[in-house]
Amino acid sequence: MKGVILAGGKATRLRPLTQVTNKHLLPIYDKPLIFYPLEAMARAGVEEVLLITNPEYSGHFLNLIRSGREFGLRVTYELQEEPGGLAQAVGLAEPFARGSKILVLLGDNIFTHDLRPPVQRFGAQERGAVIFAKEVAEPQHYGVVELDGEHVLGIEEKPAAPRSNLAQTGIYLYDERVFSFMDRLAPSARGELEITDLNNLYVAERSLRCEILEGWWIDAGTSHDELLEANVRVAELRRAGLL
Ligand code: DAU
Repeated sequence: MKGVILAGGKATRLRPLTQVTNKHLLPIYDKPLIFYPLEAMARAGVEEVLLITNPEYSGHFLNLIRSGREFGLRVTYELQEEPGGLAQAVGLAEPFARGSKILVLLGDNIFTHDLRPPVQRFGAQERGAVIFAKEVAEPQHYGVVELDGEHVLGIEEKPAAPRSNLAQTGIYLYDERVFSFMDRLAPSARGELEITDLNNLYVAERSLRCEILEGWWIDAGTSHDELLEANVRVAELRRAGLL
């Protein structure tokens, strides 16, 4: 299994903090945000990671993370020239993946769930994809998942009237066919190739499973308040030895 971390985008919602840097380089307690998905990859047992970011501050990532050796990883880099959406960014990983299954993490998600068992289970599975969901108070801010057991019936991106309170988190497992699905995607109303549309292609062939995340999870990149909450909670978890 290979790993892909998406750390591009413009992060306009976090301005002015992101006026002169990438949001994944902002501090969360005592580390830059990007360290958390890198450490999650290592904990999941994934050794080879592609980090995809936008050109503006790509040199900063290289200076900070270098070869990835300090994380126990081999990190290489790819540029997403324009923020064309999460699915477009995943598509850029095709030459890197070279026929492997991939674990994709959004660079602004922090979580305590142990991904090693699901990664191993998915490694042994023949085909399909897996998403991870978490119950939230305000599902309309996320992709919202409708489930039948662990089988996904559909995902709606930021719906006004959510059908459940299960948010799709930024953790995805895809089989090697994911790249062949890319040309079936069309830009959404906001002009992006959406990860939710990609995942719904797996729903259409009834091969998308969903696991419920245990422990704590946050999408730290949506607002200044989420960023603050991430800082406070990570400090608490670290003191309790849980992260
Ligand atoms: O965090 C979970 C949510 O992430 C899901 O519930 C949604 O279904 C999914 O669409 C996504 O929503 P966000 O609105 O949080 O996505 P955002 O634009 O913040 O981008 C997420 C990460 O991906 C962020 O770390 C930046 C990176 N990114 C984003 C875009 C648009 C890229 O690398 N390239 C891009 O083109």
